[in-house]
Amino acid sequence: MERPDNRSYKLRGARATPAQEAAYVELWDRYGIVPNDILNLTEFFPTSKRIIMEIGTGMGEATAQIVKEDPETGFIAVEVHKPGIGALMNMASKNESENLRIIEEDAHLVLQHWIPDTSIDAIHLYFPDPWPKNPHKKRRIVQNPFLELIAPKLKEGGYIHIATDWFEYGTWIQGVFANSTLFTGGVIERPVFRPISKFEGQGIRKGHVVTDFRYFKN
Ligand SMILES: C[S@@+](CC[C@H](N)C(=O)[O-])C[C@H]1O[C@@H](n2cnc3c(N)ncnc32)[C@H](O)[C@@H]1O
Repeated sequence: MERPDNRSYKLRGARATPAQEAAYVELWDRYGIVPNDILNLTEFFPTSKRIIMEIGTGMGEATAQIVKEDPETGFIAVEVHKPGIGALMNMASKNESENLRIIEEDAHLVLQHWIPDTSIDAIHLYFPDPWPKNPHKKRRIVQNPFLELIAPKLKEGGYIHIATDWFEYGTWIQGVFANSTLFTGGVIERPVFRPISKFEGQGIRKGHVVTDFRYFKN
């Protein structure tokens, strides 16, 4: 399977802690999905009222809380960072959450190959890597081809909710969506359901201002 040249993530060397490693191994069958064909998402969440995909769950603290607080929604977490996946599984298990499945893969590949059209109610994209240096900006996940990839996967009335603490990425996000006919939306107030993740906390301590965006599929 072909991986994108300009990956939107850093291949971090951080080792998993023993607890993360153990959770990953022990809880994989409960939470992990290894897709080899187009997925029937309702099979994982037969009673869920909505299905939300979160791209880039990081260390999973915010995700675990959102999943816990909203048991009527089925969540598909997509992340490439194994220690973070272990940490998320650990928290989800402690919370006895059953409305979560995790795919360990690049979200581009997941969307291209395994997610059926009009199957997702919303996408959460919280604090995507900002890639601040000019030569790296092509690695930003929010690009027109990404919009073309997600639009068909969303149901009618579906949306993407994005948060960033990187001011210039916020301007970039607005520019990408303004140049697309696929979505309509803009800046929204921070929703109360979105808790502060470790990553967001670090940004806030550096004086960064956090902006939330919501764009609905046209
Ligand atoms: C800056 S971190 C933010 C994590 C988390 N959302 C938070 O608020 O703490 C961005 C995360 O997105 C993941 N990521 C970036 N591009 C991705 C992709 N194409 N597919 C899956 N995960 C991705 C990275 O591995 C990283 O964990």
